[in-house]
Amino acid sequence: MGTTGQVSAMSYRYDVPNVGDIDVYEEHDGYEGLRKALEMEPAEIIEVVKESGLRGRGGAGFPTGMKWSFVAQDTGKPIYVVCNADEGEPGTFKDRPLMEYDPHQLVEGMIVAGLALNAVMGYIYLRGEYAASGRALTKAIRQAYDKGYLGADVMGSGKRYDLAIHRAAGAYICGEETALLDSLEGRRGQPRLRPPFPATHGVYGCPTTVNNVESIAAVPFILRNGVDWWRQWGTEKSPGPKLMSIAGEVQNPGNYEVALGTTVNEMIEMAGGMLEGRELKFWCPGGSSTPMLPADKADVPYTFEAIQEAGSLLGTGALMIYSDQTSVVSVVRRWTHFYEHESCGKCTPCREGGYWLGQILTRIDTGMGRMEDLELLEDLCDNIFGRAFCALADGMVSPITSSLKYFRDEYVEHIRRGASPYGVEPRRDIATVEFSSGGGYLADPPPATPKHVLETEPVGGGQA
Ligand SMILES: Cc1cc2nc3c(=O)[nH]c(=O)nc-3n(C[C@H](O)[C@H](O)[C@H](O)COP(=O)(O)O)c2cc1C
Ligand code: SF4
Repeated sequence: MGTTGQVSAMSYRYDVPNVGDIDVYEEHDGYEGLRKALEMEPAEIIEVVKESGLRGRGGAGFPTGMKWSFVAQDTGKPIYVVCNADEGEPGTFKDRPLMEYDPHQLVEGMIVAGLALNAVMGYIYLRGEYAASGRALTKAIRQAYDKGYLGADVMGSGKRYDLAIHRAAGAYICGEETALLDSLEGRRGQPRLRPPFPATHGVYGCPTTVNNVESIAAVPFILRNGVDWWRQWGTEKSPGPKLMSIAGEVQNPGNYEVALGTTVNEMIEMAGGMLEGRELKFWCPGGSSTPMLPADKADVPYTFEAIQEAGSLLGTGALMIYSDQTSVVSVVRRWTHFYEHESCGKCTPCREGGYWLGQILTRIDTGMGRMEDLELLEDLCDNIFGRAFCALADGMVSPITSSLKYFRDEYVEHIRRGASPYGVEPRRDIATVEFSSGGGYLADPPPATPKHVLETEPVGGGQA
């Protein structure tokens, strides 16, 4: 294990005034990684990225160098680099400051990736709501063209490479790499059947790599500073620094850069500790689609392998912290409605299952749950997980199954009391709909007092 704790490796230029300006960027080692890359053969660049052990920062942690080596070189078709800047996973906001504060870092990474893959063009698929990132990147790209880093003859190398931004319309599913490609091509963003994979059939049916912002931005640092520099942090299987978004019930939520291997407890301390009078109850390691873990697992080192061993996934680096004053049922209900809403509708388990999961969780959270709902939830999750077309559906069920695993008693308590034990007034005015006999929805909210449940169980009054 390398050194742990807070570091300033990829974020060290965030505080430099006007670093979004190319001259300032160049004064702070800017485009040095690209200069190194121009001295190397494409295969050598890929080899260095492989040696660094850099793993994809977009969620799955796939080794970046290996992904690049899969991109077909001999098809006679143009090759494309696509940067996934959709950043839609709940709790994730670590790519945004990189693009807003230090946009040339990503532009430089995109050019280096282009050289490594013999690509002709790069696209940055940018989350639509990220207007400031869009402005910063647009300016950076224009300046890079003016300085000859982009265009017909990249720094006199005789190689052509162009770069464009594609602003997305704001759909979580368009972060899934094949849905992203469909959206980029102008179609409705829905996942594609794989194989074939983007490495052979990506944008316009041509060989393509799709990588996260942080993965791409890391490469110039690795080329400039070397593999040993990168590997001074983290473990053999999870080397390097990691940009984190720490959110939830901590004193100072925000962006942090840490060495992989830093424990979650250390990161909570880094973020100022828990809010006054609150104790850690549960946390999500990397966005809401990664299974939640309870407080007693917070001493786990933040690495791909250790988090997996603890029963979850590192995901995007979005650490979400929840306290003993928060109802896990309410949190899971909110997330489930997000996934239900964001389901692209292509396959039945996710489209229909998401709706029913949302209904059941709303019923429990608003005090109208039935004991048999817990088994129903598990059964539904079982029929969705691994049976849908893409990973959105797996992400939808993971908060439910993990919360039932660790906090089943709390679900039972909600049902027994007919109310949230957290004293939150059940919101009977929203999100609960029932079918009328005609198959449509009842327009009126359900009655304030649940009549059809808990006849043998105590209702209200907190006496359960
Ligand atoms: C529903 C869904 C949403 C996703 N959203 C993002 C995203 O916003 N940004 C991202 O980089 N990867 C996202 N991914 C993962 C991508 O499909 C892909 O694995 C990633 O961009 C690969 O980059 P990497 O190899 O650098 O990690 C998402 C996946 C799914 C299933
Ligand atoms: S799992 Fe959900 S998001 Fe993915 S293809 Fe099916 S319906 Fe669409």
